[in-house]
Amino acid sequence: MKTVKVELAERSYEIIVGSNMWENLPAALKEVLRPGKVLLVSDENVFSLYGQRAIGILQEAGFKVFPAVIPPGEGSKTLYRANELYTAAIKAGLDRKTAFIALGGGVVGDLAGFAAATYLRGVDFVQIPTTLLAQVDSSVGGKVAVNHELGKNLVGAFYQPKLVWIELETLTTLPRREFLAGAAEVVKYGSALDLSLLESLEKNWPAFWEKDASFLAEVITACCRIKAEIVSQDEKEKGIRALLNFGHTVGHALEAATSYRYYLHGEAVLIGMAAAVQLALLLELLKPDEARRLLGFFARIGLKEAPASLTRSEVLAALKKDKKRSGKKSIFVLPVGPGRAGIFDNVTSSMVAAVLDRYLHEKGQGLLALDV
Ligand SMILES: NC(=O)c1ccc[n+]([C@@H]2O[C@H](COP(=O)([O-])OP(=O)(O)OC[C@H]3O[C@@H](n4cnc5c(N)ncnc54)[C@H](O)[C@@H]3O)[C@@H](O)[C@H]2O)c1
Ligand SMILES: [Zn+2]
Repeated sequence: MKTVKVELAERSYEIIVGSNMWENLPAALKEVLRPGKVLLVSDENVFSLYGQRAIGILQEAGFKVFPAVIPPGEGSKTLYRANELYTAAIKAGLDRKTAFIALGGGVVGDLAGFAAATYLRGVDFVQIPTTLLAQVDSSVGGKVAVNHELGKNLVGAFYQPKLVWIELETLTTLPRREFLAGAAEVVKYGSALDLSLLESLEKNWPAFWEKDASFLAEVITACCRIKAEIVSQDEKEKGIRALLNFGHTVGHALEAATSYRYYLHGEAVLIGMAAAVQLALLLELLKPDEARRLLGFFARIGLKEAPASLTRSEVLAALKKDKKRSGKKSIFVLPVGPGRAGIFDNVTSSMVAAVLDRYLHEKGQGLLALDV
């Protein structure tokens, strides 16, 4: 078992990472939660796999458990589903001392966290993330949100959990496509924020690919440590937290332009990271050898092709609506060396158009190639 601490004064908390450590969960929960009732939020897939085990553990820890199970998928991250959780909590008589526990991927975590932040003006919250994406990214850092019909994550809060419990055994049942989408966020940490993680992933890629438990524990812990460090310094994204958005400007635009139905988030982010490398080359922020190294790394996962009907102007229109724009300019996180990135607002629209064309016209592979 490895522990990472998120240092946020009185809102500090621990992230515990390990395999087959379910039996240790009751004690960990009793340390951070007050006795009483808990709302166990999960989706149908995860609940059918791990729900009974989680209920048993919570009961063993002395909690009275009220399960609230939502349909799987992004479509559940809504005020409508949050309202269902409020209703379940009110009917179960959950008071201010009770807790919401999220057992699932980023959808469950974001929704349960949002509901916990707002129910009775805030009740305790614990994350038990079960996708790779949620384990390395969404469960850490306290961003919680639901979607609005006019855009993703538009209604939310910064609300830190009391504990993040990362049980690696859950990854054994995660579908391959979901695992690879989460791997894109892992690749993000290595390529933009931490050279030693990048080197370790390059060297041990087969172990990662095969979900080797001890290497996964090492990598997931490293990602949580990087994110925890950044969040401790900049909880509300006024500065360096924005570096975590490497690959996300173009990634979000691709997701939005395809109505969130074609790409998984990580798939779009991987394309966004390759686009960022190409933009960094155009701005001469990266040497060709450095770019080649990063693109070679992304190629190990491979870029998903664009849908045939997707046009450059649809992606550009989505970019213009990005909520992270400052005034008229899009903000890009661009690599400035392996394991290092910076924030730039001097990317011109013709540069973006050229890079998008490489992706759209060359079945994705154009973004992985180097002209020099
Ligand atoms: N809060 C943040 O900082 C943050 C950061 C990144 C992403 N997000 C959000 O996270 C969401 C995406 O999260 P996600 O990728 O985890 O998707 P998800 O929660 O939809 O999970 C993906 C699929 O895997 C299934 N699943 C989950 N765990 C499983 C397991 N162990 N075994 C088998 N199946 C399992 C789920 O039922 C679902 O069908 C998006 O809404 C995104 O906006 C939030
Ligand atoms: Zn992301």
